[in-house]
Amino acid sequence: MNKKIKNLLASLALTRETFWNIHEETGKFLNLLIVSQKYKTVLEIGTSNGYSGIWLAEALSQVAKTCKTKTPHLYTIESNLKKRFPLATKNFKESGLSKYITQILGHAPEAIPSRSAGPKKFDLAFFDATKYEHILYWNAVKNRINKGGTIAVDNIISHKDALKDFIKEVKKDTSFTTVILPLGTGLLVSVKN
Ligand SMILES: C[S@@+](CC[C@H](N)C(=O)[O-])C[C@H]1O[C@@H](n2cnc3c(N)ncnc32)[C@H](O)[C@@H]1O
Repeated sequence: MNKKIKNLLASLALTRETFWNIHEETGKFLNLLIVSQKYKTVLEIGTSNGYSGIWLAEALSQVAKTCKTKTPHLYTIESNLKKRFPLATKNFKESGLSKYITQILGHAPEAIPSRSAGPKKFDLAFFDATKYEHILYWNAVKNRINKGGTIAVDNIISHKDALKDFIKEVKKDTSFTTVILPLGTGLLVSVKN
């Protein structure tokens, strides 16, 4: 990771509570996951000001160096037009990673790019938006995750009561192997079998 991105992430981490950003260790984990698995197509639900998106896109920029056939890309969805969406645009620009990122303004799951308008499948989907809608996001993307790909969900321990029905459903889904990691606010990691 270059110094400019490192410094930008460090400065954005200072306002983590204002923008409900992931913890640094969660960002590092998702970044490592993308690089180590050479994931190329990533979907994020809940951009906020772009902090997690920078962790994800930075990893994709590393994958791009070793991948000649396909340009790695992040699709990230945010519903807040007035403040967080434009702030993310500014932060992505400052990171120098904009070419790896498509920002989508809208409400998930409806705003998830369709198979015809966007990628048919994703290597990683990261859910970090309204906790009560996670099951809708899961149902919308579970069949669009490549084999060996991952769905990761933040706040799994901090919001375990709000997410208990969702966790139950996910654990029942035999097409994924699921673990909960004590990273940041708790990260659910489900890998497609
Ligand atoms: C927890 S914050 C995301 C933090 C971001 N992932 C990060 O770590 O930098 C959740 C964001 O999701 C947005 N949001 C909530 N429900 C949404 C939905 N259904 N579709 C799109 N965005 C949504 C909120 O406006 C908010 O900015």
